[in-house]
Amino acid sequence: MTAQRGGFSTRIGFILAAAGSAVGLGNIWKFPFEVGKGGGAAFVVMYLAFCFILCFPVMVAEISIGRKTQLNPVGAFKSLGYKRWSIIGYLGLASGILILSFYNVVAAWAFGYFIDILNGQFSVGGEAFGAYTADWIKIGGYAVIFMIGTAFVVSKGISGGIEKAAKILMPTLFIMILGLIVYAMTLPNAMEGLKFYLVPEFSEITGPVVYSALGQAFFSLSLGMGALITYGSYVAKDNNIVSSAASITLVDVGVAVLAGFMIFPFVFSQGIEPNGGPGLIFATLPGVFQSLGDVLGIVVGALFFLLLSFAAFTSTISLLEVPTAYVVDEHKVSRTKACWGVAIAIFVVGIPSLLSYGASESLGEFIQLPGTDNPMPFLDFVGVIANDTFLPLGGFLIAVFTIYVWRKENFNKELAEGDAEIKGSWLQSYVNFALSYICPILLGVIFIVTVFDKFFGVKLMSMLLG
Ligand code: TRP
Repeated sequence: MTAQRGGFSTRIGFILAAAGSAVGLGNIWKFPFEVGKGGGAAFVVMYLAFCFILCFPVMVAEISIGRKTQLNPVGAFKSLGYKRWSIIGYLGLASGILILSFYNVVAAWAFGYFIDILNGQFSVGGEAFGAYTADWIKIGGYAVIFMIGTAFVVSKGISGGIEKAAKILMPTLFIMILGLIVYAMTLPNAMEGLKFYLVPEFSEITGPVVYSALGQAFFSLSLGMGALITYGSYVAKDNNIVSSAASITLVDVGVAVLAGFMIFPFVFSQGIEPNGGPGLIFATLPGVFQSLGDVLGIVVGALFFLLLSFAAFTSTISLLEVPTAYVVDEHKVSRTKACWGVAIAIFVVGIPSLLSYGASESLGEFIQLPGTDNPMPFLDFVGVIANDTFLPLGGFLIAVFTIYVWRKENFNKELAEGDAEIKGSWLQSYVNFALSYICPILLGVIFIVTVFDKFFGVKLMSMLLG
């Protein structure tokens, strides 16, 4: 069985692949604008705390379930003997399909910006960004290319596809970020940017900031949909789960933090407000790059958007791998057929998202959620359903399952495989404690708060925390 499914050939290969899943648009595109909206350093502090306190234990649980069962998220719960709990797996499949459907579109924007800048074209400002995303034929073309690239890697299997891609892309990405940071530091006002980023104003920590830091941490680490159950299912028994999870968390957090060191000096060098929201990267950065002059602007700008595309690519790979593994394991279809079939289906699901940024007015103003002033595009709505609602629910159920259904003893037994020191250690006690109490409570609260907020317009968080 294992021989057929394949697996990661080395521990570092697994860590890089899982870190590749985690490091993505969430780190480089979303993290800086969330920091900008959340008042800067205070958000960063919350984000870091949530990554280690809450997310790390959930990651350990996911990898353990995967490695124990050597199966996809649906099969995993069944094979442990809890058929009903495979609902977590189905929820994860739905999340994966929905997230990839719009994530691929945003990845296509980044990839398209890379190509445009190489050709000396800069879309500067919100209007140009709007005109750019409205060109659905062009973006659609890039989205097709991005999905084909993703499916190609996934079709090559674990060690020959996913692991290989991560081993090349992750170090490259790291070098690119470091290079861009060094350059960003030389810009005028770089220090202003760093100050905003690094000096916390604790008065900025309000209910909604806590809440979005938690959501960001969770999304950024690829948790709650079984992506790490799936990757964990390809991990050898002599692999140390806890220390691997720690490395993955560190890399992901590290890249997010580094992204800030690059973005805020860029943004402040042009005297731009850092609270621009999702447009922060796409609408403002091209202007920064253009101002660097023809040659330098093209080099730095193209490098930046290539970096963003690489980061997105290792994430789309992990998102496609989850439904692919499900089809391969549970329906005995070949990997090649499964992955191309799933990729086509997800692309089709993503078409309304593709059209919702300027091409179609009705999709652009798809739904007005209660308590908000404007209707939101279809793409954003899919994000609300999958990222904001399904992922915390998935995480909540995974924590509860691990401790109270599968049981702590069995979980700890799996942790001890490949880790001689974990038994009785404070780290094990902490992971157990967090999964028993902290994770279910925080994730349960976040799920309930989201449902009330997004779907009923009731701001429980502000009522609780002010
Ligand atoms: N973590 C990725 C990012 O930060 C996105 C992602 C990839 C993801 N796979 C996932 C999010 C699985 C949740 C679940 O961009």
